[in-house]
Amino acid sequence: MSDYPVNMDVKPEVTAFFDPDTNTISYVVKDPSSDACAIVDSVMDIDYAAGRITTDSADKIIDFVQSNGMKLILQIETHVHADHLSAAPYIQEKLGGDITVGDKITVVQETFGKVFNEGTEFQRDGSQFDRLFKDGDTYKIGSMQGVAIHTPGHTPACMVYVIGDVAFVGDTLFMPDGGSARADFPGGDAGELYDSIQKVLSLPDDMRLFICHDYGPNGREIRWETTVREEKATNIHVGGGTSREVFVKMREDRDATLDMPRLIIPSLQVNMRAGDMPPADEDGNTFLKVPVNKL
Ligand SMILES: [Fe+2]
Repeated sequence: MSDYPVNMDVKPEVTAFFDPDTNTISYVVKDPSSDACAIVDSVMDIDYAAGRITTDSADKIIDFVQSNGMKLILQIETHVHADHLSAAPYIQEKLGGDITVGDKITVVQETFGKVFNEGTEFQRDGSQFDRLFKDGDTYKIGSMQGVAIHTPGHTPACMVYVIGDVAFVGDTLFMPDGGSARADFPGGDAGELYDSIQKVLSLPDDMRLFICHDYGPNGREIRWETTVREEKATNIHVGGGTSREVFVKMREDRDATLDMPRLIIPSLQVNMRAGDMPPADEDGNTFLKVPVNKL
């Protein structure tokens, strides 16, 4: 069993918002005994070909929180996503909510600060975020206590957020028939990912797991909720006691065949800034860069 403080008697209310453009699932997680809630992994819409940013996905979540009279406490980023833009700063303007990420964000900022040739005005100390969590840190959402678990491998700063009987696993695990996320981005490591997955699988069997992405493998409908028990038994990459060695070989072979995510270039530049755009020029115009032959 895990050493992290877990209380399976607390049953948060979880509402999912699926973004079909990026196959991302965002969540509102609410304290059943107060109005307090958190948002996990919000999405800002982008038409990359047109360079156009819109807010429909974020507005849906804002409307949901407001119309149900909830108070937003935290905006949780499970990691620096490479496939969609975070809407956390936009949501914060309307609803507040501290923006949080793992403290190893500094490693991610160092790596991609170089890739995008950011000047010294781009701080690599995580100060763009309101709170940085390290492994085992706890936090409150109303009367609920959550714990952050460091789960590197997909990225160095990945965290799993456990709140009562639910865990938001980010890209540590996919649904059982989806397996696991890639571990080949700069700073990723398949062996570390295996070790992090074992941390998740050591949580209580009945814990509800909410994943960040689903692609409906083999034509099934999109799903986002599973349990530790199901993942342990049937996950196609790690279920049934798969060894570290077998997993690492499978993951590295598979990653070598994958293209870069469609939105990785805009996503990293924005998400390493906690969802903010790069600073505008003197006329108020905002630009994203395309680093050539760097990814
Ligand atoms: Fe990811």
